[in-house]
Amino acid sequence: MSTTFQLDTATSRANPTPAPMKRLTVPAIQRRKKDGVTAEPLVMLTAYTARQAQLLDPHCDLLLVGDSLGQVIYGLPSTLPVTLDMMIAHGAAVVRGSYHSVVIVDMPFGSYEASPQAAFASASRIMAETGAAGVKLEGGQAMAETIAFLTQRGIPVMAHIGLTPQAVNALGGYAARGRSEAEHAKIVADGEAVAQAGAFAVVIEGVIEPIAIALTEALAIPTIGIGASAKCDGQVLVTEDMLGMFERVPRFVKRYADIAGMIDDTAAKYAEEVRARSFPGAEQTYQPK
Ligand code: KIV
Repeated sequence: MSTTFQLDTATSRANPTPAPMKRLTVPAIQRRKKDGVTAEPLVMLTAYTARQAQLLDPHCDLLLVGDSLGQVIYGLPSTLPVTLDMMIAHGAAVVRGSYHSVVIVDMPFGSYEASPQAAFASASRIMAETGAAGVKLEGGQAMAETIAFLTQRGIPVMAHIGLTPQAVNALGGYAARGRSEAEHAKIVADGEAVAQAGAFAVVIEGVIEPIAIALTEALAIPTIGIGASAKCDGQVLVTEDMLGMFERVPRFVKRYADIAGMIDDTAAKYAEEVRARSFPGAEQTYQPK
């Protein structure tokens, strides 16, 4: 669904950029990998709100409404408590705020693992209530049947393998994966299984680089790396990590800005002016005519 929303800017600060522009599609994303090569890497960032989507949209091919919103927006300890309703509310906001990128919404923990039918019930709600172009789910071979079930019923699926944060309790933490021979072989098999099942792309997170390179060369579908390799067909980061909103910086994150520092300085300046009664000034106050 290609949706351009015209918000009422007279009563809202949402101020969209309603430039008429055709939204990219899932098949267009897939076609970017031709004969095993993606000449121009795919750019994906997470987005959780309409305004964030507006700002990121012109620069991205895909916007991911990641369940990382659990930690980033809600201050939760992991992605596990994130609900389908939370994903749908944020997914709809991101679709409203974008007009160019393909919007993909994460399926939260517990909403898809039990059966392909359970996954379809959750995914169809996401598609119908957000206007997103597809869903992302974590898991390789174990999710292949579910991926096939969804894709055969018109729901594009982006798979997510390697370090899968919803499995943090089983994995024992967020360390990079694939250092043992068995783990290496399992991740490669996972990638092959999700591609075979019909996933249109696969996120490869937190794996040793040779695995990411081998899968990128072997699979016909685009690989999107995070903590994987620059040789993947595309890259994704959590936007707040990339903007420098958090002190803790995982090895695979590059901080392109220091927005946390900027907010700190700006809030301090505001607080100082309020306490000195120099804000609001004459320009910000109303006088009788
Ligand atoms: O939830 C998320 O933001 C993700 C990305 C880190 C790939 O799954």
